Amino acid sequence: MKLTVSVFIFLLAVTGIGLFWRADISPYFKLLAKRPCACDRCLSEGDSLFQQRFSKLDEPFLSVNYNLSEDNFNWWKNLQGQGQIFSAYRETVEKLFKLVPATAHVEASSPDRCRTCAVVGNSGNLMKSHYGPLIDFQDVVIRINRGHTKGYEADVGTKTTHRVMYPESAVDLDKTTRLVLFPFKIKDLDWVTNVFSTGPSGRKSNFKANKDLVMILNPAFIRYVHDVWLQQTGSYPSTGFMTVVLALHICDEVHVFGFGADSDGNWSHYWEQLRDTNLKTGPHPGGEEYKMIVELSKQQILKFYTGW
Ligand code: C5P
Repeated sequence: MKLTVSVFIFLLAVTGIGLFWRADISPYFKLLAKRPCACDRCLSEGDSLFQQRFSKLDEPFLSVNYNLSEDNFNWWKNLQGQGQIFSAYRETVEKLFKLVPATAHVEASSPDRCRTCAVVGNSGNLMKSHYGPLIDFQDVVIRINRGHTKGYEADVGTKTTHRVMYPESAVDLDKTTRLVLFPFKIKDLDWVTNVFSTGPSGRKSNFKANKDLVMILNPAFIRYVHDVWLQQTGSYPSTGFMTVVLALHICDEVHVFGFGADSDGNWSHYWEQLRDTNLKTGPHPGGEEYKMIVELSKQQILKFYTGW
């Protein structure tokens, strides 16, 4: 008798669940399990090449409360042969964050939004590409170093929301463009402090940029890209390749333009004649970087526009 009652209750429960489901409450559950972004595909979904690499990083940008490990500092300080000590780095960073925002501004991911980004490298393959409108169409447009727009609007667009640079490649910015410093040595961090410092008669430097829009790449990010993305090939990654990986961390959809050497294997620019015909890809593993971008494109992790 007891068994019959139990079986009856069990069948009743199963039927109840079935009916409940048919009443179509499944969308409710789907809503609860919200997607991380509103694009057709979000980078943080699935088990992609990106996912396998992504997990190995802490923070893409420095912030006032971030502590770079001494091990990462020691790796970074050898990049451009600077023989400085950890305490000097810490003092420099402390001074720097008295002037620039304590945390880098990154638009947070949201189920209601699809953060689209264009990364514009400086390759000559942008010439006659007519990519301008497609580049400007993205929410965020990240340009690199001296990447020109004036006179090249049809091919590279007009909009610049972020510009990646280091002191040797710096160009003046307007008040709305975010300066993304890629530091290769302590002096690069000092440079930011110096150009935005004021003396009794105002700013000490003529360099133009908005100090409230400064973002500083975490030196550990350079190591992460070198170790994890490029498997330690070459001396260290190029600014352009690091920008692509950075975009994969701060955008939901990444469009890549202006990458690729010329027919002689040199990294020539779209706005000038190549002067050093033995340039190749400098100290950077240009071939590996290009292969990785192509692979990411094949896996639909980013969209790669190869120019003409
Ligand atoms: O020459 P520059 O470093 O300013 O260019 C920015 C980035 O664009 C490079 O770091 C490189 O990753 C990429 N580039 C490229 N092919 C070129 C020129 C530059 O892939 N012909």
